[in-house]
Amino acid sequence: MPDFRVTSISSLQAEFSVPGDKSISHRAAILGALAHGTSAIRNFLPSEDCLHTLNAMAALGARHEVLETMAGFGPTQLVIHGRSMHLSPPPAPIDCGNSGTGMRLLAGVLAPQPFASELFGEASLSSRPMSRITGPLGEMGAVIETLGHQPGCAPLRIHGTRLHPLTYQMPVASAQVKSAVLLAGLFTAGETTVVQPAETRDHTERLFTSFGIECRRQGLAVSVAGGQSPQACDFTVPGDISSAAFWLVAAAALPGANLRIKDVGLNPTRTAILSVLSRMGACLTESLLATAGEPIGHIEVQGTRLSGTEIRPQEIPNLIDEIPVIAVAAALAHGTTTIRNAGELRVKETDRITTVVNNLRAMGGNVEEHDDGMTIHGGQALHGAVLDSYGDHRIAMAFAIAGLFASGETTIRGTACVNTSYPGFRHHLQAVLGHATDPAAFSLSTAPHS
Ligand code: S3P
Repeated sequence: MPDFRVTSISSLQAEFSVPGDKSISHRAAILGALAHGTSAIRNFLPSEDCLHTLNAMAALGARHEVLETMAGFGPTQLVIHGRSMHLSPPPAPIDCGNSGTGMRLLAGVLAPQPFASELFGEASLSSRPMSRITGPLGEMGAVIETLGHQPGCAPLRIHGTRLHPLTYQMPVASAQVKSAVLLAGLFTAGETTVVQPAETRDHTERLFTSFGIECRRQGLAVSVAGGQSPQACDFTVPGDISSAAFWLVAAAALPGANLRIKDVGLNPTRTAILSVLSRMGACLTESLLATAGEPIGHIEVQGTRLSGTEIRPQEIPNLIDEIPVIAVAAALAHGTTTIRNAGELRVKETDRITTVVNNLRAMGGNVEEHDDGMTIHGGQALHGAVLDSYGDHRIAMAFAIAGLFASGETTIRGTACVNTSYPGFRHHLQAVLGHATDPAAFSLSTAPHS
C-alpha cells in the first residue's frame, strides 16, 4: 500500500461517519456464532482484525451470509447462524492476525470446548502477553500451552476441557481479560465474577444483555451465571469513537474548523477522549440519538488553539487506544501535557510509548519518555518528516493527523496496517486534504474550504 503523504491544512469543514466499532464487532461475531438462532449484524467493521474473528467463528461451525460489503474490504451487514453454544472442532489452527482482542476472547470461548484448538497470529501479536488470560483461565481448569518464542506468548494450544466458575480479582484493567473470563464462565456450572481494578470498556456486558444473557454489575465487579445460552438478536454496531478520535483531534486543534462525526458510539467507558479535548479547550457537543444497548449519537467539534492538560490515572483505561493521537494534540497545544500510569501502552501492537516519542521527536516535538507514559511540552512548530508506522495502525493514523499541522511534507511508511481497524481511512484523509476520489463511497461530505 502506498505511503501516506500529508501536508498542512488551513480549514476543515466536514461531516463524516466512521466505520463500525472494532471492540463491538468482535463481540457481535462471537456472540452471534454462539447464539440460538440467526442474528443480523449491521455496520459490522470489515477490518482485518474483525474479519479474522468472523472467520474463526465460521471455522468453528457458525456460518454467516454477507448482505452488504464495504467495497474492497468486507462485510458490513451480515447474518450469522448461531450454534446454540455447540461449536465444532476447527479443521486447522485459527489465524487471529494482529488482533489481541480476537485471540484473548477466542481463548475464553475455546478453553471450555470438548475439542483441542490452536490460535496463532502475526509477529507483533506473538510478542504480546497471553499469561494475563492463560492465568485466570488456568484457575478455571483450562489447559493452554503457550508455544511462542517468548514465555507466555502465542501461539496458544488449547486442550479444551470442562471449566469451573471463578471469582477473579483482575490485576490489570483489561476489558480483553475480563471478557475472556466471562465468556469462559458462560460454559461453567456456576457464577463467574471478575473484579476490575478500574472500570474498563463494558461492551461484553452490554452485548450479553442484547443477546439475552443476564449479567450482574456491582461497582467494579461483573458476574455471569454459566449455563445461559445467548439468544439471536438484530444488532447495529455504532461507529468507532477510537477511529473518530483522529478527526476529532484534527478539528479540535485547528482554529475555525467545524466537524461533525455522525452515528458514533458514545459508551461512557469510551468517551474520555471527549473530556480530555474539552479540558484542552476544544468546543465539543454530543447529541445522543439512542441509548438501547450501546449509546449512539453525533459529535460536533469546533477548533481552537488547545492547551495542555494532565491525563488522570482513572481515565487511562477509557482512552488507552486514543493516547497516540492525544499525544499529537498535546504537541500542538500550548503548555505541558502529562500522561502517566499508562504502562499498558508498552504491550499494544507496538510499544506505543516509544513509537509515539520517536515520531514526535522526528517532527520536532519536545517530549520526555517515562516508563509509564510521557510528558509533552507543546507548542513547538512541527516539521514534516519521513516516519515509520512500525506496522501499528494507530501510530500510522495519529501521525497522519500530525502531518496536517506540520510544515512541509510528512510521509508515513507502512500504511497497510490501518486496515486493522479503519478501512477507508486513506479516503477520509484524502478528502480532508482536499483530494477526495470517491467521497460518497465512504459517506463523507466536506464543505468547500473557507
Ligand atoms: C479492547 C480492549 C483494550 C483495547 C483494545 C480493544 C477490547 O485492550 O486497547 O484495542 O475490545 O476489549 P485491554 O482490554 O487489554 O486494555
